[in-house]
Amino acid sequence: MAPDPGPPGRGRFFGDDLLDEIRARTDIVAVIGEYVPLKRRGANYVGLCPFHPEKTPSFTVSPDKQMFYCFGCQTGGNVFTFLMKREGLSFTEAVEHLAGRAGVALPEPDLGRGSAAERAAAERRRRERELLHRVMDFAARFYQRALVKSPEGERARRYLRRRGVRPESVETFRLGYSPPAWDALLKALKAKGVEEAVLERAGLVRRGRDGYYDLFRDRLMFTICDHRGRPIGFGARALDDGEEPKYLNSPETPLFSKGRALYGLHLAAPAIRRGGRALVVEGYMDVIACHEFGFDYAVASMGTAFTPDQARSLRRLTDTVITAFDTDSAGTQATLKGLEVLSAAGCRVKVAEIPDGKDPDDCLRSGRAGSRAEAAGGSGSRDGRAAFARAVERAVPLVEYRFRLAVRRHDPSTVEGRVRAAAEILPVLAAVESPLERGEYLREFAGRLRVSEEALRAELVRWTKAQADTRRRGGVRDTDRRSRDNRELLEIAAKAGNGEGGRPPAAVAKAERILLACMMTSARGMSLVLEEMMQAAEWCREIGLLGPVGEEVAAAADGTGDPGAWVLGWFSDPGHRRVAEVLLGLWGSREGGSGEWPPDAAGVVDALEGGEGAETVGRVVFEVRALSEEAAVEQAVRDCVGVVKEHRLNSRIEELHRRISELERKVSELEGDEAGADGAERARLQSILFELIREQIDLERHTDGGTGHWQVPGD
Ligand code: UTP
Ligand code: MN
Repeated sequence: MAPDPGPPGRGRFFGDDLLDEIRARTDIVAVIGEYVPLKRRGANYVGLCPFHPEKTPSFTVSPDKQMFYCFGCQTGGNVFTFLMKREGLSFTEAVEHLAGRAGVALPEPDLGRGSAAERAAAERRRRERELLHRVMDFAARFYQRALVKSPEGERARRYLRRRGVRPESVETFRLGYSPPAWDALLKALKAKGVEEAVLERAGLVRRGRDGYYDLFRDRLMFTICDHRGRPIGFGARALDDGEEPKYLNSPETPLFSKGRALYGLHLAAPAIRRGGRALVVEGYMDVIACHEFGFDYAVASMGTAFTPDQARSLRRLTDTVITAFDTDSAGTQATLKGLEVLSAAGCRVKVAEIPDGKDPDDCLRSGRAGSRAEAAGGSGSRDGRAAFARAVERAVPLVEYRFRLAVRRHDPSTVEGRVRAAAEILPVLAAVESPLERGEYLREFAGRLRVSEEALRAELVRWTKAQADTRRRGGVRDTDRRSRDNRELLEIAAKAGNGEGGRPPAAVAKAERILLACMMTSARGMSLVLEEMMQAAEWCREIGLLGPVGEEVAAAADGTGDPGAWVLGWFSDPGHRRVAEVLLGLWGSREGGSGEWPPDAAGVVDALEGGEGAETVGRVVFEVRALSEEAAVEQAVRDCVGVVKEHRLNSRIEELHRRISELERKVSELEGDEAGADGAERARLQSILFELIREQIDLERHTDGGTGHWQVPGD
């Protein structure tokens, strides 16, 4: 394959936006996974490196960073460079390949530019999309017919009546019904001469062991259209409550991407333009109800958080977006993130709070038949439409909404609660574009929270700077800066004795011993421990978890520290640390031979030279017996590193907590005193409080999910 002349240069043929979009819509793990079997490990995936021979996996793929890297041979890059290296493609070819796979349309090459082959490929893609459009339209009509005409469709017709959907919506929204047979649509389309493979690419059928079968069966079908009203996908609702999944959606296809489409957009667009605002709801049924009740500017994000693509689609029509989510989901991280995305796209976001925890569909359709008397707070209305209209009218700006949420979540009667609430709204304040408006909010919130306005402003500046640094570093947290800041701050803040020193809790001590055992069991055990600890250390660094390990890792990464130091930092018991040190020494001095490991336990004790640790070796040797199988070693390493990680995280959080309480007491003492010098002192302490609490909040995020389930083997 002829190499491109010189490096192709980003943006020579493709704009950065386009490349970003292709990367955003490409699952790097799936692409690389086609060449290298990958196993999940923490936030990353690992496998055997395809670029150098190895027996233990050091090849790592990070879906977050969208990068791959081999710790063994230092080969790394992104998804484009992976294909270039692995398949010998040029940059252009790699981009085209992935664009095709992700369904991103590339600009037509200018006449005379691009090879004949490239032009032919573009033409093929255009034809393919045309064909898929025709197939999807046929499918939509097929499902519609089945709903309206077929005897089986009665089930779905009854369901729609029960939900109160008006007959005309069936037509407008192209609602349908997928028959229960395994091949109803398949047969109909095959009779039209469409190949099964095409139907599979359209996301309508799947291939199983015994051939192709319909993906959607016995469900109410919602046709999802593009902005021109052409069907591109389906949402399919189960007809029986409790049936899982409740909704089945089309998979990603060259036409359909859940993160790009907006349900109802083609119907709502004229009203959105006309009225200068869009209403964003979560579900299919919500959109339909909204339109039926005159809120014809409603679209749905289909249950997921808003993506930048979706935000841009709306932004083209209007700059004002009102969201009406049900209250269960309105405060969740995913939803809030979606709102941030909207506001980052330049939308003025307002949040409507629907009473009684209903979703728009429930709310709009409630009360009309005078069924249930509602204990409506104050308003006393039973008219769902009026209640919904009121909620929309009273929608508050996102900033105000976030503020209310923060105050609801944290107890504003304590200093810590107020500071936590303040810390939580910093990102929201920072996102307010107009400096004037930002200043106003800042003053108002500081007042309502009874924190010093200067401290809040200083916090905001600091937060904004930290964000900018993070962005510049490609998402990796600026630990060096943080650690400097923190050291200063902690010095001022520290009064309580520091958290390190004492013996670790029993479970942690045991985990450490098992790790030592693994290191002494086999060469593979040793590599596994080193590897797992390296990853754990990276994790510490990424989440800004400081303390011995974080700082030592940072130093090792700079090349200034002792390469073994970060390993030792993981052992909190002094005896354990000493043994680990000896083991690392022996491991390092081993002359590349593989037969010299495991070391003889007695030799390890000798190397301790009578110092602390001999007893540890004894216990470890005893525990080694339980770890004779390789799989057991692997599991043990993972679990035990998990335990020490969690310990590290929790001690840091506890330590922060102690310091926060201490400071809080000081601040309260100064609180009553408004006089000059003490006012300044209070602002200073408050700003330290901010920093500590924010760090605590950051760290707490990592205590659920990932870290909770580790256990010490054999307990
Ligand atoms: P909801 O669970 O709130 O459902 O999901 P809903 O829209 O109120 O539906 P009904 O009223 O129970 O019929 C909101 C949206 O999230 C997506 C769908 O787009 C749904 O409309 N979703 C939900 C899925 O894609 N899959 C699911 O399993 C559930
Ligand atoms: Mn609903």
